[in-house]
This record gives sequence, C-alpha cells and structure tokens, in this order.
Amino acid sequence: DKDILILAIETSCDETAAAVVKNGREVLSNVISSQIELHKLYGGVVPEIASRKHIEKINPVIEEALSTAGVTLDDLDAVGVTYGPGLVGALLVGVAEAKAISYAKHLPLVGVHHIEGHICANYIENKTLEPPFLCMVVSGGHTHLVMVKDYGKYEILGRTRDDAAGEAFDKVARAIGLGYPGGPKIDRLAKEGNPKAISFPKAHVDGAPLDFSFSGLKSSVLNYINSCKMKGEPIVESDIAASFQEAVVSVIAEKTMLAAQMYGIDKICLAGGVASNSALRSRMRECADANGFLLFYPSPILCTDNGAMIGAAAYYEYMAGTRHGLDLNAVPNLKI
Ligand code: KG4
Ligand code: ZN
Repeated sequence: DKDILILAIETSCDETAAAVVKNGREVLSNVISSQIELHKLYGGVVPEIASRKHIEKINPVIEEALSTAGVTLDDLDAVGVTYGPGLVGALLVGVAEAKAISYAKHLPLVGVHHIEGHICANYIENKTLEPPFLCMVVSGGHTHLVMVKDYGKYEILGRTRDDAAGEAFDKVARAIGLGYPGGPKIDRLAKEGNPKAISFPKAHVDGAPLDFSFSGLKSSVLNYINSCKMKGEPIVESDIAASFQEAVVSVIAEKTMLAAQMYGIDKICLAGGVASNSALRSRMRECADANGFLLFYPSPILCTDNGAMIGAAAYYEYMAGTRHGLDLNAVPNLKI
C-alpha cells in the first residue's frame, strides 16, 4: 500500500503548529511556535493577539515543517487542520491556510476536532495501540472521559460541569502568584511541598460518578489564601500547590479507574496538556498497575498542543473518507 503523507496545521489557541505525519503514526516533523511569552504579560491568552501572531507565524512554521521532513507540498496526500473547538479568530488562521494549500495543490482537505487530535497523540509513540480504549482528556479547555470505540468513534462517559482541569491549574497558579501558564509551574513547585498539608475538597457530582467539578476546589484554594491573610498566617505556596494538585490528581485517577471498571475495559490513555503533569502520570501508573490495566500517555511535547497529533487524527479521518470542502469554517464550540 502507498504511504499517506499529511501536512497538519493547529492554531486553536496559543501555539502555531504544523507537522508532517506519515501513515498516521510516523512524525517526520513537528514544529511548534509558542506565543506564551507574549500572553504572559496579560496573565492569560488574549484572543486578538493570538490571531495576529498566528498570521505572522503560520507560513514560516509550515515551511519549517516541510523542510525538516524533507518534502514539498507536491509530495503530500492531504492537508489536515483543526477547525474546532478553540478561539474562533485563531482557528480561522489555520483553516484559511489549509484551504489555500488544498485549493492551490488540489489536495484533499480534512478538518479535525482538536480533542480527537489530543486522543490520537497516543498512537504516535505506541505503534500497536488500537481502539477500543478509555481516554482521559485533560486540557486547558476540556476534561472528558472518552470511550474510544474505534478510530473516529467516540462516546463521552463523563465531563466537567464547570472548569476544566487545566483551567483550575491556571487559576490557582495565578492566585499564588506563579503566572501563566500555571500548570507546569504548579507541577514544579508542588515537588517542594506537602500534598497532605491542606485538605482541599475532592469534588464529586451527585448522581454522576464520572462527571467532574473543579470550580469548588478553585474557590476553596482562594478562600484558604484569604483566610491565611486575615489571620496573619504564613502562606506556603509549595504546600498549596502540592495539596491542590493532590486533589485534582486523585479525583482524575479515581474516576478513570471507576470508568474502566464500569465499562470493563483494561486499556487506558491520558491526553491533553494536563496529561504532562508528573504527579498525574505517576498516580495513574500506580492505580493502573494495582488494577492490572494497561496505561499509555504521550511524551509531554505531544500532550500540549501540537501539529503531529492533528496529523495522526487527520490520517484516520482521511482513511475513513472524511473530506471537507472549501466552505470549511472554524467552529469554536465544535462537539465531538
Ligand atoms: O492541551 P493544551 O495544550 O491546550 C488546550 O487544548 O487547552 O492544555 C493546556 C493546559 C493549560 O491549562 C496548562 O496549564 C496545562 O495544560 N498544563 C499542565 C501541565 N502542562 C500544561 N497542567 C498541569 N501540569 C503540567 N505539567
Ligand atoms: Zn489542546
């Protein structure tokens, strides 16, 4: 069979990313231009700035992805692009670019769901991984327990009722003065703190054992900080970071194990930016081992937003016959 070479583009948030992926699992290049330094100044992603920066970076990033892979546009079989969910102005840059390349080079256009991309990141380093498996998707915008029934076939078993896991990390980081993006900073600081120092609530949702809620936890961290200030007690940031992280990690691990037991599945994957959290990875490993489940997670660089994961997802969509027309539009609240 002929090799399928896909150029994949990702611009849904604050990374301008492009990759060339062969047969869905072999990454020939994976170029990521991060805008973090820019958005840091404002304590979070500023959508208008993100769009402008994507416009500036998209062509050089694609050129680098092609040259690193040693290919030209003429070697490609398709163009894949994230068309949702995400920031509309940011998504539009990638979508317009992909449409232009598709039109100019007569290449099939394959729109990809961003979360499907995160899930498919697991295929890249685990060459033999195949559905069905359970995937816990934890990113800045999403917290979904997903049953991957087959390539391109997903069922959401549980989701957050309010904040996403990554959002909680970012908000708590801001509250203890760590700055944006908070996840990696809390991960680092927590290593110096005591996860049992403060008992934060491990929020459960009544009657929905596979759903999540992180806003109460976030408020309780803020209340704790305020009460320390009022009582004139010292605020130990490392203990707050470690105890907050413990609350998030234990809930995610517990619910993922419960879902695997409920649905009788023994293969589990992690995906999304928060899947690069070191405490989450080791706790999930312990729990999976204790239950006899197989656990996979991508390397950290493939957990946070990147083009390679979109290339992996685009390949399976392409093989399933998914083709988008030049009327493809960005869909900021796209459902999986
Ligand atoms: O998947 P992603 O790159 O973008 C979205 O699709 O949202 O995830 C970004 C999120 C941010 O909230 C960031 O703080 C979080 O992932 N994150 C982490 C870590 N690295 C990134 N959270 C906890 N620990 C980390 N090491
Ligand atoms: Zn993402």
